[in-house]
Amino acid sequence: MDELQAIEPRHVAEEELQDSLDIGSLPQHIAVIMDGNGRWAAQRGLPRIAGHKEGLLALQDVMDIGYELNIPYLTIYAFSQENWNRPAAEIRLLMGLLEQYLNKERQRFHDRKVRFLPIGRLEQLPAQVHALVTEVAEDTCHYATRTLAVALSYGGRAEIIDAVQQLALEVQMGSLSPDQIDEALFEQHLSTYGIPDPDLLIRTSGEARISNFLPWQIAYTELYFTRTLWPDFRRCETLLALLDYQKRERRFGRVTQAMSS
Ligand code: IPE
Ligand code: IPE
Ligand code: MG
Repeated sequence: MDELQAIEPRHVAEEELQDSLDIGSLPQHIAVIMDGNGRWAAQRGLPRIAGHKEGLLALQDVMDIGYELNIPYLTIYAFSQENWNRPAAEIRLLMGLLEQYLNKERQRFHDRKVRFLPIGRLEQLPAQVHALVTEVAEDTCHYATRTLAVALSYGGRAEIIDAVQQLALEVQMGSLSPDQIDEALFEQHLSTYGIPDPDLLIRTSGEARISNFLPWQIAYTELYFTRTLWPDFRRCETLLALLDYQKRERRFGRVTQAMSS
């Protein structure tokens, strides 16, 4: 917990944070594990769904900042494979909320020219939700400058297994030989193909774990953990995460410039 961010964001002026940002070195892809909705609601004596609803406001803030700063890729963890193990009533409410959200937001995707890209085992979603998710994805697939990838019924290990199965099939059919399999080819079989790896991964709520989110893609991603619960992760918190990212030196296994001689 010691490494978690200690600054109390509400005491910092947003304008001041904006001014400190280096617009030239922003992440191009931010991934977010939106966690802590249930705890946010419990702290207020509210049902968990109230936290999920409030969480949508936080999502809007993060999306707005991404839009304003021209950050082309945002990937959010909305529902994991493991989340199917939650009580049926919570799953039903979450699916209903997803439907409401998409019906309300799809116009904004067009206004902002955002491609909505669902990733995960979408066929496991209730039929009506699956149909809506597919429709909005098809409707926006021509937008090339901004992508909102939404992990739904997503599990990173399942994604890797699916890729392995496809490659094995190609080898079996004789169209691929095992020595042709390299990282680039493997990535072509992932649901995130064509999207650069996340530069920054944010996880809220004080948990310092990945929970099966994009395990392949985050191999060299900068990780940012904060105690803030997701519904409280608003504009200032987003800017603080970006500023923290800008303090990092991404070495990718090399030595630092100043130490290289
Ligand atoms: C994250 O909040 C949202 C989803 C996983 C759908 P949680 O529902 O996990 O909230 P906590 O972690 O119980 O507080
Ligand atoms: C991760 O949160 C999944 C999403 C945010 C959708 P969880 O609340 O499901 O993760 P764990 O159970 O704390 O690892
Ligand atoms: Mg949680």
